[in-house]
Amino acid sequence: MARIGILTSGGDCPGLNAVIRSCVLRGIRVHGDEFVGFTDGWLGLVEGNTINLDWMSVRGIANLGGTILGTSRFSPVGEGGGVDRIQANLRAGGVDALIVIGGEGTMAAAKILSDAGIPIVGVPKTVDNDLSATDFSFGFHTAVEIATEAIDRLKTTGQSHHRCMIAEVMGRHAGWIALYAGMATSAHAILIPEQTATLDEICDWVEGPFKRGRTPLVVVAEGFVSAEMTEPHSERGLDGFNRPRLGGIGEQLAPVIEERTGIETRSTTLGHIQRGGAPSAVDRVLATRLGLAAVDAIHDRAWGKMVATRGDEIVRVSLAEAVGKLKTVPQRRYDEATYLFG
Ligand code: F6P
Repeated sequence: MARIGILTSGGDCPGLNAVIRSCVLRGIRVHGDEFVGFTDGWLGLVEGNTINLDWMSVRGIANLGGTILGTSRFSPVGEGGGVDRIQANLRAGGVDALIVIGGEGTMAAAKILSDAGIPIVGVPKTVDNDLSATDFSFGFHTAVEIATEAIDRLKTTGQSHHRCMIAEVMGRHAGWIALYAGMATSAHAILIPEQTATLDEICDWVEGPFKRGRTPLVVVAEGFVSAEMTEPHSERGLDGFNRPRLGGIGEQLAPVIEERTGIETRSTTLGHIQRGGAPSAVDRVLATRLGLAAVDAIHDRAWGKMVATRGDEIVRVSLAEAVGKLKTVPQRRYDEATYLFG
């Protein structure tokens, strides 16, 4: 039996509630655990803001978007509050161990706290699917489904008006959503942060299908920078990442494409719609399995580990393996998509 703290940190994504639910149910039923939720990410842990998590409070939440615990991009290390305050709060609340659900920034902070002796297990979360050491993170599949549905809609209005349509999707550092949604919707160009392209190349990819009577479709990840753009349209976030401004690149490309090709062009930024709402069935199952595995890892005292997917299995990897390097789209995966360009 243990008293376990749970927090969700960083940008939210569909599936967080399914993780919380499965942790609590597994812990109560199998291990006789008690749970406490820290609200708004690391902030709740540093300030001692908690909510009780019991059987009733997680009832019926697996299909709910967002997180019942709230989240923030607050960092607990450095200026954020420090290890001493966190340790004092854990002692005061009688909390034996922590499950932290988050992306790269969250896992990096978790590693620092774990190295300082705080018993932590991580659960990977990101719609961008860019976290190393896990094949997939929940939220990604849902985001791809949402983007695909939206882009299908953009295509029909584009066809009616004989326009080039640009869909900007999430992906600051990695173009996984663009790659998947672009391939699923037969995009004529997929532009991702990992691959540069000149404006001439992009315009060629647009003109080719237009000449064949098709509606050119460009799917661009928010972090894409064209060969001519020396200044990424970015701003530095609280987590220290250079974050492209949402709504930037698609709107920048549209007038350039229109001017160079003479094809009327419209851009749509899908933005946070990709992160909101109910998780897909696949993400509910993945999130649930990760939650079950996280509680078991706590009882095996697997401190400093993150639960992760390897094929169909859930495995444990070290937090060190999970941070420092993002999982970007490899060349061979991009090459597969380029066969369909233009
Ligand atoms: O969590 C990653 C992400 O979805 C990025 O693709 C995006 O740039 C960012 O979050 C935006 O998040 P927020 O507006 O919450 O800072």
